Amino acid sequence: MCGIIARVGEGNAVDRVITGLDNLEYRGYDSAGIALQNGTGVSVSKCSGEVEELKQNIRGDRLAGNIGIGHTRWSTHGPPTDENAHPHTNGDGTIAVVHNGIIENHAELRERLRSQGVEFESDTDTEVIPHLIDHYYATCDDPKVAFTRAISELEGSYAVVVMFEDYDAVYGARQGSPLVLGVGDDQYFLASDVPAFLEYTDRVVYFEDGDVVVARPHGVTVTTADGEPVNRPIESVDWDPEETGKGAYDHYMLKEIESQPSALSNSIRGRINDSNDGVDVDVFDPSTLADVREVQFIACGTSYHAAMYASTVLNRTGIRARAFRASEYQLSSDPVTTDTLVVAVTQSGETADTLGAMERAADEGAKLLTVTNVVGSSAARAADDTLFIHAGPEIGVAATKTFSSQAVTLSLLAQHLAEHIEDGTPVPNLPAVLDAVQTLPSDIEQIINTTRAAALANHYLNSEAYFFIGRELGHPVAQEAALKFKEITYEHAEGFASGELKHGPLALVTPRTPVFAIFTGLHDEKTLKNAKEAQTRGADIVAVAPAGHPAVSETDAHLPIPDTHPMWAGLLANVQLQLLSYHAADALGRSIDKPRNLAKSVTVE
Ligand code: M6R
Repeated sequence: MCGIIARVGEGNAVDRVITGLDNLEYRGYDSAGIALQNGTGVSVSKCSGEVEELKQNIRGDRLAGNIGIGHTRWSTHGPPTDENAHPHTNGDGTIAVVHNGIIENHAELRERLRSQGVEFESDTDTEVIPHLIDHYYATCDDPKVAFTRAISELEGSYAVVVMFEDYDAVYGARQGSPLVLGVGDDQYFLASDVPAFLEYTDRVVYFEDGDVVVARPHGVTVTTADGEPVNRPIESVDWDPEETGKGAYDHYMLKEIESQPSALSNSIRGRINDSNDGVDVDVFDPSTLADVREVQFIACGTSYHAAMYASTVLNRTGIRARAFRASEYQLSSDPVTTDTLVVAVTQSGETADTLGAMERAADEGAKLLTVTNVVGSSAARAADDTLFIHAGPEIGVAATKTFSSQAVTLSLLAQHLAEHIEDGTPVPNLPAVLDAVQTLPSDIEQIINTTRAAALANHYLNSEAYFFIGRELGHPVAQEAALKFKEITYEHAEGFASGELKHGPLALVTPRTPVFAIFTGLHDEKTLKNAKEAQTRGADIVAVAPAGHPAVSETDAHLPIPDTHPMWAGLLANVQLQLLSYHAADALGRSIDKPRNLAKSVTVE
């Protein structure tokens, strides 16, 4: 978490750094800060709270500098106070640092620096960095040497960017946390992620761990820490800068929910053959898949729900598949062998738990595939092969369009695996499944144009709790709907496999706990029976089902979804439930795009 941005070039850097912070705020919003350098010193402005507060604070300050660095924070060490906000500086304020990651040996370094007379102003792990650089700079008078010596002492993960008062440059390095370079016509950016500078350039350089970069107004050099030159290619990203703005929407989340038709079209494009009887998913040489005996998905949060979805689809092809929570997978003793295909599912490609789980899989010799939205991300680079979901940038902390795109991409991957793994048989009724997936964008369009989720959200506002139930492919959707609901409304919500309700959760059911039942077209009579068990105890049941479904007349309210193949009905139900969460959170006045305590990219374990 945390977002960092640096800009060097001609003209004033302030607006560009602030734009970068706005675009990176999804990574954390506990505090924000900026430092500028114009050849006559370093000036720092920072405060707790969101970027908007920083903007208010610096309004009218006439800040200027052609070199700027900025930071938006998700707190790990120390509460979200002004003092703990980045940038952090050395004692006389001539070196300023922004950092994303965790310095594990910060306590030891702090003690050592203290014994040398350094006084600290914050509780952060980051503050040791400018003091360490200062220490080395005093002995060598060379900023790059001082920077590389300092970072060679850091243990843990970092993307760090530094400016010095009297050098026309910024110095950056990465180790386990993301850092990318944006190459503009007359300027360069270093940032945690591409959306930070997408308005200014779509030309990007992705760095590897251990790279050290020096960006000056008219050029960039990349080396190893030992000074050996490193060649990193410039790549073009195909994200549209408009996708990183809110447009006419009040919230990114609603914009992203409503952009699911185009996101899904992009996920599907080119991946289904013309006769609708096979897929064209370009991962691994088919011969490397033949001897796969098990597929293990590893993921967190929403991506885990997409992984559950995929493992259910894959099991239908006769291939043994399981979804694991990445944080648990690292510690588990479930066998992983060279015959295991491990699929890491991660929107951002930077989730520390998932990266840790990938390490375990790699250590055990598994074949490793990453399914992600972010080209150049750590997970993309750590795998043997990568499959992109092509959903476009997602800024709202609540994952919406990326869930749909993950579930569809992974389901197409399942068919690809079924075609090449010895034990596999095709997804049942494949032509019908592939036919239906291609109408999902227009089905979602229909939901967006006709939804009554806002009215229903208002009707059930201030309930005691909200339950979501579904079976088989409806189960991950129930869990995803509950995660979305609790994440942005701060209300108690739970998702259950329908059949589990009677094994305990039913004790929580009252007339003030609406139950949203997801009907996918498979096992629906059982789901209805379970829903009625809750209805008998006083709960209102909301059927998320096609119009005319038998459950509609037996339940208390209805969120309609278009008729589709049972493989995809859960994804349509999920869109209605995303809208339900959104409107409930809106009615409650919640911070929808930046829910409290959370961040989009969770780069700590
Ligand atoms: O970037 P990832 O997909 O790896 O993120 C995993 C989770 O942190 C993420 O899905 C989280 O649960 C969502 N923000 C929930 O909406």
